[in-house]
Amino acid sequence: MNTYKNMLIAETIADVRAQVREWKAAGLTVGLVPTMGYLHEGHTSLVDAAAAQCDKVVASVFVNPTQFGPGEDLEAYPRDFDRDCGLLEEHGCSLVFHPSVEEMYAPDAATYVEILDDMPKQLCGKTRPIHFRGVCTVVSKLFNIVTPDKAFFGQKDAQQLVVIRRMVRDMSYGIEIVGCPIIREEDGLAKSSRNTYLNAEERQAALVLSRSIALAKKLIADGNRNAEVVLTAMRALIEEEPLAKIDYVSAVDGYNLQPVEGLEPGTLVAMAVYIGKTRLIDNFIVE
Ligand code: PAJ
Repeated sequence: MNTYKNMLIAETIADVRAQVREWKAAGLTVGLVPTMGYLHEGHTSLVDAAAAQCDKVVASVFVNPTQFGPGEDLEAYPRDFDRDCGLLEEHGCSLVFHPSVEEMYAPDAATYVEILDDMPKQLCGKTRPIHFRGVCTVVSKLFNIVTPDKAFFGQKDAQQLVVIRRMVRDMSYGIEIVGCPIIREEDGLAKSSRNTYLNAEERQAALVLSRSIALAKKLIADGNRNAEVVLTAMRALIEEEPLAKIDYVSAVDGYNLQPVEGLEPGTLVAMAVYIGKTRLIDNFIVE
């Protein structure tokens, strides 16, 4: 196994298993942070949480082909593994798993983990029909490889978090899923590896997402509990931005992701908006 300072770098499933077995034999707990790399403070906040709650942190850096649809940005997805290693080591990661596509998927791999419920088809699932099947399949493989005590996911990908919790329950993984808050740039834009696709003008335009959330929170604080009223105001604000094109702005039940009429504590208000060619997501949970 290679190392980066104090951190191990594993490229094979066998190396990860051997190391985790050693740690478990010594009675240590293991936290897993799955990522697709090109890390930012959103990712490192998950590593911080894992390091605070577990003896050893394993992060994975793997751009997972099975969660990208045809015409999506699989090839263009940004990568910088050396920089990722620096950040992971700094934040207390003990081992980074960086497999090749061949290591993760046999050429004739044909087994998927899929939630056969309407929930993964809501929100992002409407335009990304195979996305959550790919996410569940790769996360399930990572769970089997790393066998962590806890796994850490960001609220930034709210639907993903709900889907993973459901998969863990349905498949009896016995792994605690820890959801972590959205980390934002100072001006409000949620941190995302895809923000690097934005040019200067688009970067400015991208603020409509967090501004629409601020507007919604204000309307709710003022006593508006009607979802359509609040969503209409959010959409109107976003549509004022010429570079923005709405995919969806929705209010859904935080558990089954079905659309709701009333905004109640626990309601998820989520959006996907194209800024130029870049699709950005953001959300908040009604308090
Ligand atoms: P990726 O987009 O790299 O995100 C990895 C983790 O970081 C996810 O749990 C995501 O919610 C979290 N994250 C991203 N931006 C964040 C932010 N601004 N604040 C807080 N957390 C943030 O999500 C994936 O990769 C993949 O689908 C994966 C789960 C690794 C499966 O391939």
